[in-house]
Amino acid sequence: MEIEEIIAYALTKKILIDKDAAGILSKREDGYNIIDALEKRSVFFINRDKVNEFLAETETKTHPEEKEQEELKVEIVESRFKPFARDIESRIKIDERTDITGKSQSHGTMDDFLTYFKDKFEKQKKIILENRTPNLIELAKIPRVSRNKIIDVIGMVYEKNETKNGHIILEIDDPTGKAKVLILKDRTNLINISKYIMEDDVLQFNATVGKDLLVANEIKFPDMPIRAPRTISEDIKFVATSDLHLGHKKFLDSGFDKFLEWLNGKTGSERQKELAGKVKYLLIGGDCVDGIGVYPGQEEELVLKDIYKQYELFEDLVMKIPEYIQILIGPGNHDAVRIEDPQPRINEKYLSRLAQLNNVHLISSPSNFSIHGINVTFYHGYSMDPMISSLPHLSYSKPEDVMVEYLRRRHVVPRYGSTERARALMFPEREDILSIQTPPDILVAGHLHKNGYTSYRSTLVVNPGCWQKRTEFQIKMGHMPTPGIVPVIGLNDLGIKEMKFMTGESI
Ligand SMILES: [Fe+2]
Ligand SMILES: [Fe+2]
Repeated sequence: MEIEEIIAYALTKKILIDKDAAGILSKREDGYNIIDALEKRSVFFINRDKVNEFLAETETKTHPEEKEQEELKVEIVESRFKPFARDIESRIKIDERTDITGKSQSHGTMDDFLTYFKDKFEKQKKIILENRTPNLIELAKIPRVSRNKIIDVIGMVYEKNETKNGHIILEIDDPTGKAKVLILKDRTNLINISKYIMEDDVLQFNATVGKDLLVANEIKFPDMPIRAPRTISEDIKFVATSDLHLGHKKFLDSGFDKFLEWLNGKTGSERQKELAGKVKYLLIGGDCVDGIGVYPGQEEELVLKDIYKQYELFEDLVMKIPEYIQILIGPGNHDAVRIEDPQPRINEKYLSRLAQLNNVHLISSPSNFSIHGINVTFYHGYSMDPMISSLPHLSYSKPEDVMVEYLRRRHVVPRYGSTERARALMFPEREDILSIQTPPDILVAGHLHKNGYTSYRSTLVVNPGCWQKRTEFQIKMGHMPTPGIVPVIGLNDLGIKEMKFMTGESI
């Protein structure tokens, strides 16, 4: 028998089987019978352990009565878990408009950057005008406005400087022209806002026309609208996780196994099992594998040095997740897609088994989708590093603060930047799909390997940590990751329950 035949036979029984197990069964004459027997035990995923367990049981038992009793016990244990989410119909919609896969038209030329920044300006302006109605004047028309008149303008910051007297001068532009905006040092409120301003921010100014410049009275970011949080009546859960870094020696395998067991109702207290049964959606937010050649010296830290083997292991693990859970998988900077944002979906050639499953959805980064009418924006978070370099109040220990800056700007890569240190890796697409057009109910990122949550203007902000123990690089940089902690989000109240699967700890 061929391995593929075994896999196909198992699929007809709605059973998933990993390559290892299929290999063992393909060498046995009773391979199909074993699948039949496991089907009777309501097994929906077969791996090497399951096969070995079954063979040990059937081949060494000498007393048939004893065997029957054992099997009965297994059936009772497995049927006790009655997941609530199994009977809930999935309602998931993925917004194709913000998926760049196969649609990139940019070559990274000067013209492409110009087109990108024009579109960014228009998109951010549209967001500003959604909630406000300023009396706008284009920058080119300012010289015709009489002095001391108060006007409203929208501009993109291309330079920010402090004068020797402590005032701040912003140089801004729009598609028609340029202007200078002065922020006086005694306007404490504005000076405080200016600390948050970076190059490439699109801002709204209320200002008094002066000689050759505008004097700022008010500065506003595009920002999120004020609204009530959106929840649903059904008590179903959305689990966010990210940054597995499979293939790296620091992957927290025992913790992840425990997480999978919990999702299958096989570990935890009765309450924890009940919680697991409510999980209907699961997002894996990038850095699924550690990749190859991502940083110098990486090879020495890898246990799997082949990208296909890394994704094979990823598939083996994801296939252990119950089939009634809808799984969304996005890319990160370690995955086998282009590193520049926006990132396309992970290519199906790496995930051929998962791509066949109806409950698995490959998504881009950023990506927008709705689950049961709740809008979720996912972005892996590669721009967090330049954001932390650019804004003094941000740090590696609070990813949620960086994410709030995304929401304030309604953009996930707000700064392309002019300096090497603070420059984001971004590809100038014709349309700026990095702009957060629809206000999300939940914003999920990853990348910093640190759990962090907050709420900003009724949007729940979630960073789900990682599955990689502290690396040499993180020790050197002083970063403290929080591996093995999984936030379980209630769609009925946007509340978070953390499940902890660290090594050596019982959940
Ligand atoms: Fe990561
Ligand atoms: Fe990352």
